Amino acid sequence: MARNTPVTGGLARMLAGTAALAVKTQNFHWNVEGPHFTALHGLFEEQYGALQEAVDMLAERIRALGDHAPGGLGAFAALSPVGDAPEGPLAAEAMIAALAEDHRMLSREGDALLKTAGEAGDEVTVDIMVERMTAHDKTAWMLDAHLR
Ligand SMILES: [Fe+2]
Repeated sequence: MARNTPVTGGLARMLAGTAALAVKTQNFHWNVEGPHFTALHGLFEEQYGALQEAVDMLAERIRALGDHAPGGLGAFAALSPVGDAPEGPLAAEAMIAALAEDHRMLSREGDALLKTAGEAGDEVTVDIMVERMTAHDKTAWMLDAHLR
């Protein structure tokens, strides 16, 4: 039976945002150009792979809590705090900056859900949010390092 709690609602937003960022990162993997093509093409591939694994973990946590996971591009677009990339083609530096900003936003979303889950006594979701914030903060740092 669906419970639709604040925690599963927050998980659905994290799921949709993570899926949107995976799609955006894979698009940049395809379209990046410039002297750092090889490095960025590979870096973006690692990043969208990690995001896809996180999508699966977040969806399965929603199921473990008794709710159904949203899916489909329309449902994800409606829920996602991460928007589409601006119309391209984008320079490599603009791609990196956009992805770093999205990772920082998802880290803030994770922090909000961590607090919601903590208040609900849901320590497993707290732990998942610590893991997601760690990954988003690290990825934002790695992306930022390319812009210095
Ligand atoms: Fe590829």
